[in-house]
Amino acid sequence: MKILSIETSCDETAISIISAEGGVESPRFEVLGNALYSQAKTHAEYGGVFPALAKREHARNILPLLKIVLDVAQKNGLEFHTTKPNAGKNIMLKNILEREGNLADQFVEFCETQFIPKIDAIAVTNGPGLEPALWVGINFAKALNLAWDVPIVPVNHMEGHIISVLLSDSSTPVIFPALALLISGGHTELVEIDEWNAYKVIGRTRDDAVGEAFDKVARLLGLPYPGGPHVSRLAAEYRATYPDYKNTPAERPFILPRPMIDSPDFDFSFSGIKTSVLYTIKKTTNEGAISLTENQKQAMAAEFEDAVTDVLVKKAAKAIEQIGAETFIIGGGVVANTYIRAAFENLISKRFPHISLRVPSIDLSTDNSIMIAAAGYLQFLKKSKGIEKEWTTDFKADGNLSL
Ligand code: KG4
Ligand code: ZN
Repeated sequence: MKILSIETSCDETAISIISAEGGVESPRFEVLGNALYSQAKTHAEYGGVFPALAKREHARNILPLLKIVLDVAQKNGLEFHTTKPNAGKNIMLKNILEREGNLADQFVEFCETQFIPKIDAIAVTNGPGLEPALWVGINFAKALNLAWDVPIVPVNHMEGHIISVLLSDSSTPVIFPALALLISGGHTELVEIDEWNAYKVIGRTRDDAVGEAFDKVARLLGLPYPGGPHVSRLAAEYRATYPDYKNTPAERPFILPRPMIDSPDFDFSFSGIKTSVLYTIKKTTNEGAISLTENQKQAMAAEFEDAVTDVLVKKAAKAIEQIGAETFIIGGGVVANTYIRAAFENLISKRFPHISLRVPSIDLSTDNSIMIAAAGYLQFLKKSKGIEKEWTTDFKADGNLSL
């Protein structure tokens, strides 16, 4: 079946069309079209994502992205009906999109010119995330539902991050029970999975998410938003110069805490590391990061990345043992971090060689709509076999939606 997906939960506007088959047992996906616009540069001057600005940018870019995706997908074999949406629906379409600026008028014009594509479902992220941003995607999906008469499947963004691992390797089925560690800008969670769509969050951060900690430390070091990749680059530079710094006190000027590393639960806390970075900078220089040497910044970045990695690896290992996981999944934007990836590859190959490690490709680690389409496929299968045959469009954005 063909699925069109929409992701607008944070600062990426993304639309894709995929072809999915194989059922829940062995799902396989082919991407027919994908377009993503990152607003990161727009938000950089605010040092973080500014919700009203995110909403405005999503509304401005979503229709142009859809047009691009339809064009690309057509070249890749997507078929179209020979009909256009019924013009009588225009008033209803305008009502749905009235809160999204001039998107309503643009959309009606689009319907007058565009043949209806042969799509079986529309998957849209309905949370967690920034509600004003989520609403743009949801209202856009509802407008498409009305124009094309195609069912909508709401998708949890975090389920998308879990399912993203199926896109890089669909040949080996995931064996349950599985454990997923989700590390993104808004979340840090350990999730026990007994089957697709049956998730149990067994641990979570009590304060900052890992990605958030990276972004805040980046800011303290005077690096631009989003800071994760910049901190990681500095850390890699330090390790290249001092490969054995961890065991050489003279090469390790800063030592940060590993909060909750030995706590009896599966929860995390990262705000303390960030505060320690702040105090350590203050102790080192009165003028803040501006007067840190490049070498000191690199050393701080490496120590920070190590502190976070130590905690993540130790907690994940404990959870793998406790639930007897057969598969370990890591997902979320921070998985783009090659140092953290390597630490988990090392953990699994040394301590749990019988377990399969599933990791998304780097480009599908950060937010994208392909993972939403793939998660939408599994949701669609679940819903269409149950009693829930009536596809509702009566759902809302939920900024705090949990798995
Ligand atoms: O999953 P994601 O794209 O968006 C959310 O759902 O939050 O994650 C974004 C987060 C940001 O905090 C960003 O700094 C972090 O992922 N990130 C990284 C790296 N690339 C992105 N953190 C550390 N190292 C990276 N290479
Ligand atoms: Zn995300």
